[in-house]
Amino acid sequence: MATVLVTGGTGVLGQHIVTRLRVRGHDVRVLSRRAGAGTHVGDLTTGAGVRAAAAGADLIVHAASDFRKFGKPDVVQTRNLLAEIGDVSHLLYVSIVGIDRIPFRYYQRKLACEDIIAGSLLPHTILRATQFHDLIAAVLHQAGRLPVAPLPTDFRFQPVAAEDVAVRIADLIEGRPLWRREDFGGPEVLTLAEMAEVWRAGHRGSRPIVPVRLPGAIARGFRAGYNTCPDHTEGTQTWAEYVATDPAAAYRVR
Ligand SMILES: NC(=O)c1ccc[n+]([C@@H]2O[C@H](COP(=O)([O-])OP(=O)(O)OC[C@H]3O[C@@H](n4cnc5c(N)ncnc54)[C@H](OP(=O)(O)O)[C@@H]3O)[C@@H](O)[C@H]2O)c1
Repeated sequence: MATVLVTGGTGVLGQHIVTRLRVRGHDVRVLSRRAGAGTHVGDLTTGAGVRAAAAGADLIVHAASDFRKFGKPDVVQTRNLLAEIGDVSHLLYVSIVGIDRIPFRYYQRKLACEDIIAGSLLPHTILRATQFHDLIAAVLHQAGRLPVAPLPTDFRFQPVAAEDVAVRIADLIEGRPLWRREDFGGPEVLTLAEMAEVWRAGHRGSRPIVPVRLPGAIARGFRAGYNTCPDHTEGTQTWAEYVATDPAAAYRVR
């Protein structure tokens, strides 16, 4: 059994990773900026508390990210993490499918983080996953609060259960470093129109959807499905199964 530090262990994905690793008997540390939310208080943007949290850890899962700021602090956070940790036998970085093909600012910053980790001497694995069910649910929930819901219904996604991704991450971090692992995606590729239809059927009173065709390279990338990996449909829970679980309590709108 190993001592594992999970950054982002309080997040949507991170909570599943922590649960999974604890079930497997590991000593799991959770870094959080908020006292009481994890096992160790620390801030990756300043580096405060990170060295103490990482001291003696064999393995690190780096799942922290700041999507609200479109990942602006992520590069500094990743550099600080690498500067503050000692010799670890394996670091896993959670990334996103298609970040090298869609010129979305958040994705470009994730790519920069991948490069920092790949250029370090640390034994590592980078795992790219597709969008989590919870993220799409949050978008549809927010859209449903407007009088009408304008949505880029032609965007493609391959939504995956965060829990499925966490299982893959637990498997990977226990194994040897693979540098870059094959992408991990949900069981099916769907348009946002198809996903919204399932969502609306499960949520009475949802507002009518107005299809919007967005211009630009980012929209073209999502329309083309560059964010999907149809050759890797290892996630088990479908979007319809997720919606049937009544995810209103599960997703978080921050
Ligand atoms: N969401 C998706 O659809 C998706 C898909 C594929 C890959 N990913 C990747 O998976 C990872 C997890 O995503 P998520 O959606 O689960 O994230 P999330 O719910 O937004 O959680 C973000 C986490 O980052 C931590 N964090 C942020 N800034 C920090 C700082 N300065 N110091 C320490 N911790 C900090 C937060 O901890 P505290 O708030 O407790 O401090 C929180 O635990 C990310 O790398 C993301 O890019 C996400």
